[in-house]
Amino acid sequence: MDPRAAPSDVDRAAQAIRSGGLVILPTETVYGLAADAADPKAVAAVYAAKGRPSFNPLIAHVADLEMARRIARFDPRAEALAARFWPGPLTLVLPVADERAVCDLARAGLDTVAVRAPAHPLARALIAAAGRPLVAPSANRSGRPSPTTFADAVEETGGTAAAALDGGPCGVGLESTVVALLDQPRLLRPGAVTRAQIEAVVGPLAEADADARRSPGRLARHYAPSAPVRLDATSPQPGEAWLSFGPGGAGPWNLSPAGDLAEAAANLFAYLRAADRTHPSGIAVAPIPHEGLGEAINDRLKRAAGFVG
Ligand code: TXA
Ligand code: MG
Repeated sequence: MDPRAAPSDVDRAAQAIRSGGLVILPTETVYGLAADAADPKAVAAVYAAKGRPSFNPLIAHVADLEMARRIARFDPRAEALAARFWPGPLTLVLPVADERAVCDLARAGLDTVAVRAPAHPLARALIAAAGRPLVAPSANRSGRPSPTTFADAVEETGGTAAAALDGGPCGVGLESTVVALLDQPRLLRPGAVTRAQIEAVVGPLAEADADARRSPGRLARHYAPSAPVRLDATSPQPGEAWLSFGPGGAGPWNLSPAGDLAEAAANLFAYLRAADRTHPSGIAVAPIPHEGLGEAINDRLKRAAGFVG
């Protein structure tokens, strides 16, 4: 159990969930804004709190594979991925098995459901105490960077939550990888589990197709700070904040002085926010190698800069 939130806090938060309330919830990826996945009113409150277009469906967070199998149909590929990466930062999009456990609004009317078993002990404790799947989109307002600290989560949507659990800074710092297993395995969102790790289990991944229904979350401008973001910069212009990477990178926001992509992922959203708070004319970001976790980092950076991913 994380020392920052006590068992009694988890019980109170579970009570809030059962009463239809929203809860700020730490996960290993980013903070989420959680609600009972079966309760359309609670789910509507999540969309309202985020200012989120209601066609963008939510992830159902489960305690374990058993709970997951009650809401989604698992084929052997899904079983293999869950066995390898759960609990952890992988979301599977599967045919829905129980349309009531994850309500229509949470699925945006689709006959598929996104499901993930998070690894964070407080997330697991809350789902277990509530005894049901929880939707939990990232706790940011729509279009803003995902919060990776308790303070950032409370600043974004805390005013809408009946309870908030402090799990400290998120270890991973990037959202889960989203893989659809409807026809061929398809990468809908690069994330904390790398493409190579997934392909080692299910073989080559197809890209997200142009069909927006299949990949509704892939809006061009997303995860964006207020200041314009300039990518692949070699140095900052006067007035620009500077996000550097690797040995010798100057300034307070070196994503990883050691050039370590996991460290850069964990720092990315917090540094974008910190830089944005200084009201720079822009935010210049050093090139990030496009390997391993770098694919997900560059995906988020492209969206922060307003380019289609
Ligand atoms: O790491 C995470 O996944 C975080 C933490 C809090 O668990 N949650 C998160 O949720 O990032 P959210 O709602 O910000 O992103 C969910 C993504 C969106 O891109 C959405 O379009 C996609 O999952 N998604 C959800 N259900 C889907 C479905 N049935 N078909 C296709 N994409 C779906
Ligand atoms: Mg999000």
